[in-house]
Amino acid sequence: MSQQEDSFKKLVSHCKEYGFVFQSSEVYDGLAAVYDYGPYGVELKNNIKQYWWQSMVKMHENIVGLDAAIFMHPKTWKASGHIDAFNDPMIDNKSSNKRYRADQLVEEYVEKKVMKKAKKEIEKARKRFGDDFDEEQYKATNPRVMGYLEKSKTILTRLNTSLTNEDLEDVKALIEELEIACPESGSRDWTDVRQFNLMFNTQLGTIAGEAGKLYLRPETAQGIFVNFLNVQKTTRQKIPFGIAQIGKAFRNEIVARQFIFRMREFEQMEMQFFVRPGEQQKWYAYWKEARMKWHQAIHPAEKLQYHDHEKLAHYADAALDIEFEFPFGFRELEGIHSRTDFDLSSHQELSGRKLQYFDSELGESYVPYVVETSIGCDRMFLATMANALMDEVVPDADGKDSTRTVLKVHPALAPVKCAVLPLLKNKPELTAKAREVFNDLKFSFNCQYDEKDAIGRRYRRQDAIGTPYCVTIDFDTLEDNTVTLRDRDTLEQVRVSIGEVAAMVSEKVSMRTLLV
Ligand code: GAP
Repeated sequence: MSQQEDSFKKLVSHCKEYGFVFQSSEVYDGLAAVYDYGPYGVELKNNIKQYWWQSMVKMHENIVGLDAAIFMHPKTWKASGHIDAFNDPMIDNKSSNKRYRADQLVEEYVEKKVMKKAKKEIEKARKRFGDDFDEEQYKATNPRVMGYLEKSKTILTRLNTSLTNEDLEDVKALIEELEIACPESGSRDWTDVRQFNLMFNTQLGTIAGEAGKLYLRPETAQGIFVNFLNVQKTTRQKIPFGIAQIGKAFRNEIVARQFIFRMREFEQMEMQFFVRPGEQQKWYAYWKEARMKWHQAIHPAEKLQYHDHEKLAHYADAALDIEFEFPFGFRELEGIHSRTDFDLSSHQELSGRKLQYFDSELGESYVPYVVETSIGCDRMFLATMANALMDEVVPDADGKDSTRTVLKVHPALAPVKCAVLPLLKNKPELTAKAREVFNDLKFSFNCQYDEKDAIGRRYRRQDAIGTPYCVTIDFDTLEDNTVTLRDRDTLEQVRVSIGEVAAMVSEKVSMRTLLV
């Protein structure tokens, strides 16, 4: 097992062991790609949502919120293009009966069989040349590396062209030519490639047949589009302005792996920013930068990168992903899309209702253009956990080295902000005092009282769930009303008076530092 696979496995089991994320319906052996958030998970997730909501809605006078329903009129999905085009190319292996995304099979082949070799050559050369190594020059001159890069480009270009032209026969031909085998059975006995619509559907009780067919929304964005004028008129917003929403979305993903990275039920945090036609590029650049800053406030810059889309969706005139380096490599965390006037115009056409804005400065009405920012809350959760969870060698109570597992999550996002710990459990005077401190602090932030086990073990438990501060009540507390305040990251312990604790911790765990 590679180091990355190992750290990912540890992360998944940590999430379960410490009550962050559980497999859905585990007692029935689980439901694939559906997960439940446990006591600490729900706190962390709520804090992530707060961070997003506050930075979008609270910090921008021209962004307002919305909470639209999951069910929408079925015509919504006709207008948005989801009924006709929200498909993934699917292929089955006849020997294993396993289903795959045909495009992912090819992409994985390129990554594992071609690019891995190129990367190996580059790393070898880096070691050989040391500080003088120029990676770009090496890639442009070394015949072997050039060959791998060229092969990768040829395969991916052909895949993209075939998918754009809906030439599914050629996608299958490509899989056969590359001799891609089923990862499960090793067999190359494939079915044809077919399109598979990712929307879940259900039936309205009162109307039988097609007319009563409802869809679970595959993105939250459409609830914003159809409410565009309701929101604009009731808030008297002027363009440019945005509507933000957090909510569930559902996709019948063909291959849903990698824990909460790709789920069938997940949550999105989306913002549609309505602008004058012709100004979309300016706002696209603005949101590209603003969203990267939001990520960099809690994640190191080197774990984040932009990825421009080469193949644009039919409604977009520009699109990029903000990628995060997950334990399985750089992957999409957030999408920024310049969606033109496609959605509003389609809804206008199909509904027969005008979805136009009167621009008093220009003295004309138009269908606004839209720049969208769309981030998966669960992916953000995974990124936050992956970045924060680590093993660290620290001195224990006797001064000897010991390894602790610590979740160094930003204090503003931490599930529990402060734990209150009496030094000993069987001393009623200590536990009573600790309860008194806890009962006061819980009005300021999320607090936990813990008296079970030795103090060292209790510190480790709080480290594992990311609690930034621990307050310990000892015999001195009874004399002078002071406590020990322990810092999760530096392990520093300072003596402070009880009256100071709430203000000190509040300042450190405030979202304010993230929002400036
Ligand atoms: N409204 C635009 C839209 O939905 P998207 O790129 O399909 O665009 C946006 O999705 C974000 O939603 C992604 O960047 C990702 O973070 C999240 N997301 C998409 N599918 C997901 C899934 N199956 N599981 C978890 N998160 C997902």
